[in-house]
Amino acid sequence: MGVKKIFSGVQPTGNLHLGNYIGAIKNFVDLQNENNDCIFCVVDLHAVTVKQDPKILKQNVRETAATFLACGINPKKSIIFNQSSVSAHSELSWLLSCVARMGWLNRMTQFKEKAGKDKEKASVGLYIYPVLMAADILLYDATHVPVGEDQKQHLELARDISKKFNTDFDAPEFFKIPEPLIQKNFARIMSLKDGKKKMSKSDPSELSRINLTDTDSDIINKIKKAKTDTNPFPTNTNNLKSRPEIENLIGIYSSLSGKKIDLIFNEFKDKNFSFFKEKLSELIVEKISPISKEIKRLNQDTSYIDKVLQDGSVKAYELSSKKIQDIKKKFGF
Ligand code: AMP
Ligand code: TRP
Repeated sequence: MGVKKIFSGVQPTGNLHLGNYIGAIKNFVDLQNENNDCIFCVVDLHAVTVKQDPKILKQNVRETAATFLACGINPKKSIIFNQSSVSAHSELSWLLSCVARMGWLNRMTQFKEKAGKDKEKASVGLYIYPVLMAADILLYDATHVPVGEDQKQHLELARDISKKFNTDFDAPEFFKIPEPLIQKNFARIMSLKDGKKKMSKSDPSELSRINLTDTDSDIINKIKKAKTDTNPFPTNTNNLKSRPEIENLIGIYSSLSGKKIDLIFNEFKDKNFSFFKEKLSELIVEKISPISKEIKRLNQDTSYIDKVLQDGSVKAYELSSKKIQDIKKKFGF
């Protein structure tokens, strides 16, 4: 296959975790290393759809950029920048909000989850969040968007907006129709405490997630305390759906080791869970510990991080400015 144009974003809301790594950032690195044209964005405009402390937001933007770098994104190969530094994102978001339909947004499940019971009190920004996401993608003519499973519906909306714009403005090829790139297996990493909830930055329990900044002993402790059950280690996928915590731990093991699930059943048959957990912690420590150390080192080097973001913003600005002018022309501005 030819070179793909990749765009993806991660919110700077702190506590990036193993779910972000397995569901998204690990794939960013693979796509970069296959020599695709990649843009990775710290989506700070998305973050302010809920209240943020400005000082902490700034730190989190840097820490998210540091995490990209620590995981293996190379600023010489890929563009790393923060969304608010390129104003075309906000401009296009407005224009596309005049293309998207209320009915489409009303179907977005993430808004319903995030807004909770009191929808009237949610920000308007939270409601149109997926339109801004469509703007991010369409502005750079991205062909492929690596995301975790939870973003699939937002990607479908971006495709619908793109198609409607092309039809409304009689410009069949103007916007690309972006393809989601979602991992086939274990695309959603779940909480270590409740296999029915996804691993999330906003979970109040630290024991529910492995943060990418965790120390080796944090990791070992969290895996030791991860929920399991009293049944033996499974030997096949039968009944695995009714044991979501076990399925999740095996999924983490499979994603990080690259081993197929059947091989894992074989490796641990007749063994008890504490043995499996020991091996799982070793694997997570092996993969995450270098990342954690590098994030901590980079967090001390703010001038380097700021320079990476600044350079990335210049490149993103250059790529986006012609497109936004063409878009405005289409509207008649
Ligand atoms: P966010 O931190 O919400 O901006 O998410 C950044 C990326 O990580 C997105 O592509 C998400 O789909 C992905 N992601 C977040 N949580 C998980 C999870 N628990 N499992 C898999 N992917 C996830
Ligand atoms: N909404 C995404 C999330 O929360 C982040 C995001 C914003 C994004 N803009 C994007 C992802 C564009 C992919 C492409 O995870």
